[in-house]
Amino acid sequence: MTTSKKENNACIFTIFGATGDLTKRKLIPAVFTLYEQGRLPEGFTVIAIGRRDKTMDGYRDEIHGFMRDILNRDIDDDLWKEFRNRIIYQKMNFLEENGYENLNMLSRKINKENNTAGNRIYYLATAPEFFEIIIRKLHENKMLKNKNSWQRVMVEKPFGSDLPTARELNDNITDMLEEDKIFRIDHYLGKEMIQNILSLRFGNSIFEPLWNNRYIDSIQIISTEKLGVGDRGSYYEKTGVIKDMLQNHILQMLSLIAMEPPVNLSSEAIRDEKVKVLQALRPFTKESVKSDVVTGQYGKSNVFAAYRNEDRVSADSKTDTFIALKTCIDNFRWGGVPVYIFAGKRLSEKTTRIVIHFKKLPGINFYKEFKNTESNVLVIRVQPEEGIFFRINTKHQGNDFFIGPVEMDYCQNCGYNSNSPEAYERLILEALNNNSALFTRWDELEYSWRFIDSLYRSRENEVLNYPNYEAGGKGPVNAYELIEKDNRKWWDKGGEKNDLI
Ligand SMILES: NC(=O)c1ccc[n+]([C@@H]2O[C@H](COP(=O)([O-])OP(=O)(O)OC[C@H]3O[C@@H](n4cnc5c(N)ncnc54)[C@H](OP(=O)(O)O)[C@@H]3O)[C@@H](O)[C@H]2O)c1
Repeated sequence: MTTSKKENNACIFTIFGATGDLTKRKLIPAVFTLYEQGRLPEGFTVIAIGRRDKTMDGYRDEIHGFMRDILNRDIDDDLWKEFRNRIIYQKMNFLEENGYENLNMLSRKINKENNTAGNRIYYLATAPEFFEIIIRKLHENKMLKNKNSWQRVMVEKPFGSDLPTARELNDNITDMLEEDKIFRIDHYLGKEMIQNILSLRFGNSIFEPLWNNRYIDSIQIISTEKLGVGDRGSYYEKTGVIKDMLQNHILQMLSLIAMEPPVNLSSEAIRDEKVKVLQALRPFTKESVKSDVVTGQYGKSNVFAAYRNEDRVSADSKTDTFIALKTCIDNFRWGGVPVYIFAGKRLSEKTTRIVIHFKKLPGINFYKEFKNTESNVLVIRVQPEEGIFFRINTKHQGNDFFIGPVEMDYCQNCGYNSNSPEAYERLILEALNNNSALFTRWDELEYSWRFIDSLYRSRENEVLNYPNYEAGGKGPVNAYELIEKDNRKWWDKGGEKNDLI
């Protein structure tokens, strides 16, 4: 998926929110790993913006400490000494004008010293309410357009909280910044196996001809976490599982699974096809939300606290921490194929997997010897194990003619020393190379919000009897009924040590 246009990619990488959780856990370790691998351009410098008083050495020592824990490997001392000089801590309040003037002066100075060609990436690792303010201030201070150089803005999620707010945010920022300079993050798009969806689909003649409603019975996307909200309660109260997972990561995975083959692998061609899938998602109605959607919130268990007792969560919170649903993609390829989604927090397993169930051959029941065959299943295991599982039917070894399923299982990251790159490494690299394929275009967001808004609108008057599942358990009972009434089951295999279902 890389179509980097050749240009000078030396630049200053400015992180707004550099004392935050995301910067510590993901961004700085990703930048360091890229540096270690020699993938960063000459002169690449990070300006880390925080609002607290910190000395340069203090900040650098702090990130050295947490990076060792996060990367969980030795960090070469000499390399770290070089790298630490590439990190410049700058104290600034996003809301104060003089902060931007100072930042601009600092950037010019670094540009001269480190030869960064005037190029800048601004990474907004901040709460969403700051996205527009920061872009506006950068614009007013003429920091978004400079002659003979490029400026890009990477924006974290969530982008809006429904269609109207997302549209307003988008209209406001695109007045100041062209669409091709905006890199809206959905970090799932940087994951190894998500990238692999295209290779699997379009690189194997055994799949693509069958990838439609004639041969596929149903699709499942399962994305569960063992963790609760931890210290992100105030963020999660505003998003819940629907805005935290479904609107972005899950719909992005679905659009890659279901899209038509793009004319080429350029950013625009891929996103042109993905957006058509989102456009074709059937909106929810009051009726379908009742029959096809189950939401939930975790209550306490012997081991874990209830969601409502988590830090910075309201005692009578109605936030959903779980969702299971059935939906359809109303187009020629997928008409009639149900798509089932199962996602939530504080469940018994951490997993993300995409399950493609093929139909059984129509004549198969004529042969009594075939009575134990199962439908073919392809599972794309996204995390924590990355790999592919495929179930086929074969004759079992021996003199009897007994046919049954066997499982072929390929785990990409199980071997010793086989670390896949972190999603953020890839995303930073792609933004440096001006490749937008792994970032969400506005129209993709627009249609995903339309779908999500239809869900919220349709259940407006429903009474949510929360909590309705035990922390660390399997999720609400009616999530199982939702799929079982269609004579199907949530997929529980695929090489993982799975105790979810
Ligand atoms: N954390 C994750 O795992 C994760 C995952 C996916 C997406 N995201 C997204 O990434 C973004 C950042 O998340 P986070 O968890 O890193 O948030 P966070 O831990 O709350 O960090 C927010 C950062 O913004 C700074 N800040 C807040 N107000 C400021 C102001 N007026 N002036 C200057 N700095 C200010 C904070 O500085 P102080 O430290 O001084 O308060 C901190 O550095 C959010 O949009 C979130 O949705 C996060």
